[in-house]
Amino acid sequence: MIREFGVLPDGEVVHEISLRKGTLQASVLTLGAIIRDLKVDGQTVVLGFEDLQSYLDHSPYFGAVAGRCANRIAGARMTIDGQEHQLDVNERGRHQLHGGARGFSRRVWQLEQSDKASVLLKLVSEDGDMGYPGRVEVLLRYTLTGTGALRMKITATADRTTPVNLTQHSYFNLDGSATILDHTLEIAADSYLPVDEDLIPTGEVRKVAWTPYDFQDGRKLRRRAGEETVVFDHNFCLSDAPRESVEFAAALEDAAGDRRMEVWTTEPGLQLFDAGGIDVQAPGLEGKRYGPHAGLCLEAQRWPDSVNRDGFTSVLLRPSETYSHVTEFRFS
Ligand code: GAL
Repeated sequence: MIREFGVLPDGEVVHEISLRKGTLQASVLTLGAIIRDLKVDGQTVVLGFEDLQSYLDHSPYFGAVAGRCANRIAGARMTIDGQEHQLDVNERGRHQLHGGARGFSRRVWQLEQSDKASVLLKLVSEDGDMGYPGRVEVLLRYTLTGTGALRMKITATADRTTPVNLTQHSYFNLDGSATILDHTLEIAADSYLPVDEDLIPTGEVRKVAWTPYDFQDGRKLRRRAGEETVVFDHNFCLSDAPRESVEFAAALEDAAGDRRMEVWTTEPGLQLFDAGGIDVQAPGLEGKRYGPHAGLCLEAQRWPDSVNRDGFTSVLLRPSETYSHVTEFRFS
């Protein structure tokens, strides 16, 4: 089902596509390829809004697809094949976050096709968009599968070499409780990227063993008595390079252990953002008030600031290549 969701200040119409399959129901917006709502057995498992204006004024990337290059680019600068590029600055007055002020999450995607359980969206990012070189064409399909998963498949091509790194930025909360602190999280990463005070990776790849970043055996987000407090906004290293097909990355379980979501992805990194700093000033889905830790993000992507780091997997897409990314959120 397709309906008009709202109209942007410039007159552009945003549509909502409703999908359904088995126990899953999803609502997708053409704005930012946003997953506005996702229900499993009738239970909403993501954070979102009921109206367009709240997305424009209050959304910390709820459900959106971030790009052209997700996460941070230090100094909003990069050098490709000897040429330096100044990118749009939208983070702490110095850096770029999630592709700039008008990144892919703020654009209206074209609706190409849809049926009961899937939708295909397209976005064209012109040469020079947010400072990036080259024209990029992106195709993205969300599919609700018969096995209880939401699958996102993305491909992209470019006519000049440019960084492309897209991620799905949903905030998950599997039981609708006020915080996710009693959810259990497992991450299949034996190392992570430490960051500086601006949340830019320092370049070190550090082992998680015996640190608060060790989620390999699964643990609650809530710190135990005596443990140091940690703000989780870090890339976990799943692999050194993208994989050919999806592999297990993470599992999240609600407080009662009744609902489980697994993240499977081709991507080599997973940004865990615990949303400890959010305090959303507009009512969310079902009128909910979203305070600190109302949800958490498990953003599958290539490692942050890779354009400025020789040791990290490349995010450069060359004209002869196709960027390809699959992430699945599997529910049981
Ligand atoms: C995350 C990022 C956080 C924060 C958030 C949006 O991907 O790592 O630092 O910016 O997006 O509020």
